[in-house]
Amino acid sequence: MAQSPQAKYRKDYQSPSHSITDIDLTFDLFDTETVVAAVSQVKQLKDSTSLYLDGEELELKALSINGEAWSDYQLVEGGIEIHGLPQQFELTVVTQINPEANTALEGLYKSGGAFCTQCEAEGFRRITYYPDRPDVLAKYTTTVIADKASYPYLLSNGNRIDQGEVESGRHFVKWQDPHPKPAYLFALVAGDFDVLRDHYVTKSGRDVALEIFVDKGNLDRATHAMTSLVNSMKWDETRFGLEYDLDIYMIVAVDFFNMGAMENKGLNVFNSKYVLANENTATDTDYLGIEAVIGHEYFHNWTGNRVTCRDWFQLSLKEGLTVFRDQEFSSDLGSRAVNRINNVRIIRGPQFAEDASPMSHPIRPDKVIEMNNFYTLTVYEKGSEVIRMMHTLLGEDGFQKGMKLYFERHDGTAATCEDFVSAMEDASGVDLTQFRLWYSQSGTPKVTVSSEYDADAKTYALTIEQVTEPTNNQSEKQPLHIPFDIELYDSKGEVIELIIDGKPVHHVLDVKEAKQTFVFENVSEQPVPSLLREFSAPVILEYDYQDQELIFLMVHARNEFARWDAGQMLLAKYIRSNISAVQNGDAVTLSESVIDAFRGVLLSAELEPAFIAEMLSLPSHNEVSGWYQCVDVDAIALVLKSIKETLATSLEDELLAVYRSLEQQQYSIDHDAIGKRSLRNTCLSYLAHTAQGNHLVEAQYQSANNMTDTMAAMSAANQAQLPCREALMADYSDKWKHDGLVMDKWFMLQGTNPAENALEVIQQTMKHEAFSLKNPNRTRSLIGAFLANNPVRFHAKSGEGYRFAGEILREMNSSNPQVASRLIDPLLKFRKYDVERQALIKKELEALKSMDNLAKDLYEKVTTALDA
Ligand code: TRP
Ligand code: ZN
Repeated sequence: MAQSPQAKYRKDYQSPSHSITDIDLTFDLFDTETVVAAVSQVKQLKDSTSLYLDGEELELKALSINGEAWSDYQLVEGGIEIHGLPQQFELTVVTQINPEANTALEGLYKSGGAFCTQCEAEGFRRITYYPDRPDVLAKYTTTVIADKASYPYLLSNGNRIDQGEVESGRHFVKWQDPHPKPAYLFALVAGDFDVLRDHYVTKSGRDVALEIFVDKGNLDRATHAMTSLVNSMKWDETRFGLEYDLDIYMIVAVDFFNMGAMENKGLNVFNSKYVLANENTATDTDYLGIEAVIGHEYFHNWTGNRVTCRDWFQLSLKEGLTVFRDQEFSSDLGSRAVNRINNVRIIRGPQFAEDASPMSHPIRPDKVIEMNNFYTLTVYEKGSEVIRMMHTLLGEDGFQKGMKLYFERHDGTAATCEDFVSAMEDASGVDLTQFRLWYSQSGTPKVTVSSEYDADAKTYALTIEQVTEPTNNQSEKQPLHIPFDIELYDSKGEVIELIIDGKPVHHVLDVKEAKQTFVFENVSEQPVPSLLREFSAPVILEYDYQDQELIFLMVHARNEFARWDAGQMLLAKYIRSNISAVQNGDAVTLSESVIDAFRGVLLSAELEPAFIAEMLSLPSHNEVSGWYQCVDVDAIALVLKSIKETLATSLEDELLAVYRSLEQQQYSIDHDAIGKRSLRNTCLSYLAHTAQGNHLVEAQYQSANNMTDTMAAMSAANQAQLPCREALMADYSDKWKHDGLVMDKWFMLQGTNPAENALEVIQQTMKHEAFSLKNPNRTRSLIGAFLANNPVRFHAKSGEGYRFAGEILREMNSSNPQVASRLIDPLLKFRKYDVERQALIKKELEALKSMDNLAKDLYEKVTTALDA
């Protein structure tokens, strides 16, 4: 590495020296030599006759000011400095770029046969020299020129205003976007596609053309995306009063994409994983993922595009808020409880783990080397929890008033997280002074609760203590404002009114101090408390529940989330005690009352099947690992497997009866059908661990009429290592080997294969005709799954898993650093393992650190982890 990459700090923000009101772009597209002409109208804002423009991997062909060639400039690291400029001028920059050589998938690149762009966060600087920062907003006009036969569709942001033929079989289309936007929202696509068309009339009567572009032959896989888009547009009008603002909305599905999808104005570019689905190729989870991501990108049109971010430290302004909106969308359309459970699993599992890792950062980071490293679970998912807490504190009405004020104040501009909180505060009158700490403080607060019942005084006291342990980036922590939602139940399961100082109080307590006691009056018997209901704050809850209290809450808590949470706490108690037992050489045991509690859930006639399936799901190995300072990989795996086997054998008859009762003749994709499949397949995953497992799994695979049931059979065979596994895997690969997206599910099973020779098989699998390290989806499915979700094999004592990871990372460092930087995360947590494993992982990190072409992405993570 020539020079160590430099960090940027949030506190150093300076407003731009120049504004760009308009930019006119012309792309002459060729695979290896694309020429980009950019004509910008520039105005000086500050006392400076010099202008700095970002630019990377560009060949400068021409530079002129007001039409005259300009030589007073300097090419510098990462950009260009132009000197001696007038107050206002027209800047013309001509650059040449090589899309075909662009394997990083940032800027302009080729995905399969099509040209496409990815500009967030800082990809536009790989297209032309420009102030590539989100607070410079310009109106874009874009002309795309390409060979007509190969690229019949030429797309960019906004409205099509001109098109025609040019010489040598080429044609052009000209687009104009009336909404000023930062460069990261620019997009261009050129290719040959099948197009699914529909339209949507907004509540004020605007007729919007909807177009989804997919690879030829995939039209029958685009309908769910279109339905989801229409539902998103409708939902944003009804719940938020927000309407679409252009006459056309386009979505393009591409196979090569670093992330999920991108909200470019009027022209979303999607990873094909989040567009393409039919019953034979996609699981119910895929369908729900498509709905969520289509919603997410659509909702960005207001929260992200109409109001954008002032600088990248403010990323959670658009991402936390938009995740909150997409979660609410999914919850309003489907099961609120199931959605909440799955969101909380992500926070308690991978987000808590990230916040405890060397890369821990606040939802609004203070220091960044490579921005791509901060599209994290913390910024997105914890960011959404912070928005949700404000929603809890303000209520839906207050929150919507805050949104309205936010748009009144900031529409058409680049704003900060502080602007958002101020709007919420001013619109509602709720004091958010202390609450703002959630934006600046990293780490997960631990909230320890103790209770005391005084039968004579009829009082019940809850003492709540909060501590946030120091994190790698921050040693001092302060008490946060925690909305702490509780209920108290009497022995019949009736709710006890909360009374403090003679007055009824709200069920969401404002916890603001390091230690605080709430004394409830008029409590005539020892109550059972339901704590942190709805997971009202992203904290670790500690309360010494007795088994019987948890079993009581599993039945009596008034909301489904609390019932599920009680079940999880009960399981957690047994997982912990069994891990200690295993470490002491004792056997895994589960009490009869616990088994009975889960039997009750399984056979419940009132509970929805989808919810029962969640109740019966054990925490993942990764989530359990998060409970420990020092992780015993094998003990955790052994305990989770034994508990699963114990439940399976104890409840075998009931599981089989439910499994049989939920068989559906006809396939449909409504929420009721999804819920039934979910419970049925949960039963199968248990039954796989019984004597009849192999037979049941094989039979389901053979008779399945949809991918959800097919995959459930395969993953049961994989997890339980059934004899039929090999045959099913071979059959599937034979059938789908020409379809990378469908093969990703198969690659994922190979990646998470618990077999002893898993790594050897993975290395063989890398030679599979459908596999390629150049494709991020394939890489994540096979390699990513192995590193992140196959703890026993990845952490093999021999170190073979680590050496394999090191090899892959060194290769991906040059081809696609962004993907490499996501793969590396499990290695950053090396301090959680025993000394031998630590040494082996550190060796791989050191090897990376000493590479002379180490990308900024990996440099930031490797050095942060090693220095921690
Ligand atoms: N803004 C996108 C989203 O949340 C995220 C995204 C898509 C992205 N592609 C990216 C971020 C590439 C960084 C790099 O929907
Ligand atoms: Zn987003």
